[in-house]
Amino acid sequence: MIVIRDLVKQYKNKYALRGIDLDIRPGEFVFLVGSSGAGKSTLMKMLYLEERPTRGSVYVAGIDIGNLPPSKIPSLRRCMGIVFQDYKLLQNHTVYDNIAYVIRTMGISSKEIETRVMGALKVVGLEDKYKSKPSELSGGEQQRVSIARAIVNGPPLLIADEPTGNLDPKNSLEVMQILEQVNQRGITILVSTHDQNMVNYFRKRVVTLNHGQVVSDREAGTYD
Ligand SMILES: Nc1ncnc2c1ncn2[C@@H]1O[C@H](COP(=O)(O)OP(=O)(O)OP(=O)(O)O)[C@@H](O)[C@H]1O
Ligand SMILES: [Mg+2]
Repeated sequence: MIVIRDLVKQYKNKYALRGIDLDIRPGEFVFLVGSSGAGKSTLMKMLYLEERPTRGSVYVAGIDIGNLPPSKIPSLRRCMGIVFQDYKLLQNHTVYDNIAYVIRTMGISSKEIETRVMGALKVVGLEDKYKSKPSELSGGEQQRVSIARAIVNGPPLLIADEPTGNLDPKNSLEVMQILEQVNQRGITILVSTHDQNMVNYFRKRVVTLNHGQVVSDREAGTYD
C-alpha cells in the first residue's frame, strides 16, 4: 500500500527526514512513534502531498506520488482518508454536512449520499448526532466525526496524525478502537502517536523514528 525508498526532506538547513525506507502492506495497522521533532508529521505530509520530498520515492497504492502533477493531487486524496489531532471540522456545518461534502462532488444521488454518510456515522457510533454542530460535541465525538469523514468515500488507506493528542484516556481508547474496527474492514491504517499506553495496549506493528530515521520496526511492538 505504501512503499518509501530513501526519502529525504530538507527544510532550509534542517533535515526533517534522512533516508527513510518503509513498506506498509495492504491491510496493516501501523503505529508511527518517536519524540517530538522526530519527523512523524513530515513523513505523513509526504504521503498526502502537503509537502514534496527533497529526494527519494514514495508510492501509495501503486501511484508514484513523488512525481505526481498537482492536477492529480485531488484524485490521490480520494484514495486516502486523513485524520488530524485538531479534527478540522467545519464549525458552522452539521455533522452530516461535514461528512457529505467529501462525496457531494462525486456525482451520486442525494439518496446515495445519505446512505453513505449514515453508514460512516454508524461505524463510529454517532448516527444520532447527524444534526449536531461540532461545538455541541465532545472532543472524542468530534474526532469520531472526522474518522467518519475520512472513510466515507471508502479509501484503501487512512492516515491519522496524533488523532488522540487532544483526548483523555477514555476517549483516546474509543478512538483507537474505532480505528481498529476500520482496519478490520480492510483499510490500511498509519497512526502517529505519543500515547505509550495505547501503543502497548494494542500491540500492532510499531515503527519508531528518531531524528528523521527509522530506528526500529517491530511487529506486535511496544513503545520504547
Ligand atoms: N515547515 C517547516 N520548516 C522548517 N522546519 C520544519 C518544518 N516542518 C517541520 N520542520 C522540522 O522538521 C522536524 C520534524 O518535524 P515533524 O513535525 O515532522 O515532527 P513530529 O515527529 O511530527 O513531532 P511532534 O511529535 O512534535 O508532532 C522538526 O525538527 C521540525 O522543526
Ligand atoms: Mg507531529
